[in-house]
Amino acid sequence: MQKVKKVVLAYSGGVDTSVCIPYLKNEYGISEVVTFVADLGQGEDLEVIKEKALKSGASESIIGNLVDTFVERYAFPAIRANALYSEKYPLSTALARPLIAENLVNIARESNADAVAHGCTGKGNDQVRFDLAINALGPHLKIITPAREWNMSREEAILYGEQFGIPAPVSKKSPYSIDVNLLGRSIEAGLLEDPMQEPPEDIFAMTSSIDDAPNSPQDIEIVFKNGFPIGIGNELLKPVEIINKANHLAGAHGFGRIDMIEDRVVGIKSREIYESPGLLLLIKAHQELETITLNPEVIDFKGTIEKKWAQLVYQGFWFGPLKQSLDAFIESTQNSVNGRVKIRLHKGNAIVIGRLSENNSLYREDLATYSKDDIFKHKQAEGFIYMWGMSNKIWAELNSKNK
Ligand code: ARG
Repeated sequence: MQKVKKVVLAYSGGVDTSVCIPYLKNEYGISEVVTFVADLGQGEDLEVIKEKALKSGASESIIGNLVDTFVERYAFPAIRANALYSEKYPLSTALARPLIAENLVNIARESNADAVAHGCTGKGNDQVRFDLAINALGPHLKIITPAREWNMSREEAILYGEQFGIPAPVSKKSPYSIDVNLLGRSIEAGLLEDPMQEPPEDIFAMTSSIDDAPNSPQDIEIVFKNGFPIGIGNELLKPVEIINKANHLAGAHGFGRIDMIEDRVVGIKSREIYESPGLLLLIKAHQELETITLNPEVIDFKGTIEKKWAQLVYQGFWFGPLKQSLDAFIESTQNSVNGRVKIRLHKGNAIVIGRLSENNSLYREDLATYSKDDIFKHKQAEGFIYMWGMSNKIWAELNSKNK
């Protein structure tokens, strides 16, 4: 096998990915380790992380500002797809992985690296998402995954790093495994591994508790154009601003927490806590607007497409042929998804209280009304029902005769 000379490592600044740097150099004999850290709106000081990579032995340390792309090319399509894995999880972590992978591959190409690396373990979904995306975009690249191979406990990894000048973490590590970006937070492990154990309040950072949420409700309107959110109330907002604002509004009212048992790609059931207030709010509003702007057959069929879309994204197939085809279907449904949805935020709830589409509403008051303005032809129902129920009637007659 050809020896790897230069590798691009997905870097987070944590102990594990820091230890990957000397590990790649010493155990794999790779001379240059370029690190890449993505700004996905996680709110960390990336300059500090960049320095840390260099101190840990990286030959080059790159920061990528991906926030806009993350929202426009990943979160917004997920909103159009009303994407919820297992009908619950809005994929806040899953959506970030193909974007990071895409950047790793691009940097590898530009810097003539022959491999990419990440610090995922062998038990999670993230390794699957990274590897599949890298294979799809840079099939020539070797993928190196130290944490899948090194068999070190966390303590051993810290000791290994100390030999190479990587300081042991000063603060005691949180007992949880947490992933954060603009779309949400995922919290796993520690006492949460007992599925009957209630999540402690201090694990949450984007949503307030029901107790702390304001006593008074707040009504907001979310405005959509072609299935994309474009404003809140009367304010037109850029994509990243919409997510930020939705996060703050919903989070303050304690909406957007999820506690679930999740089926991972590798066959394990795991207990996951998420908070994703903005994305969940926007999906809810978008789905509601579709109820008046889309035809019932389209709504019904889109539901099966949405389920598959969310599964594919969860399972690592962002850059795959079926995902591409489903995107084309979803795209074809969204031109008419224009209008606004009114939502009441109150004590952990986001309750839809109204929807309006000025130009694309299929809701017809003259047909729906029970008032004197009704234009529906009531008599026509008789003939319709005669045929609609024909097969059922034949079946019922035969069965009552045979009793
Ligand atoms: N189970 C979630 C998912 O598959 C969260 C993964 C969190 N990742 C992490 N590296 N902590 O999307």
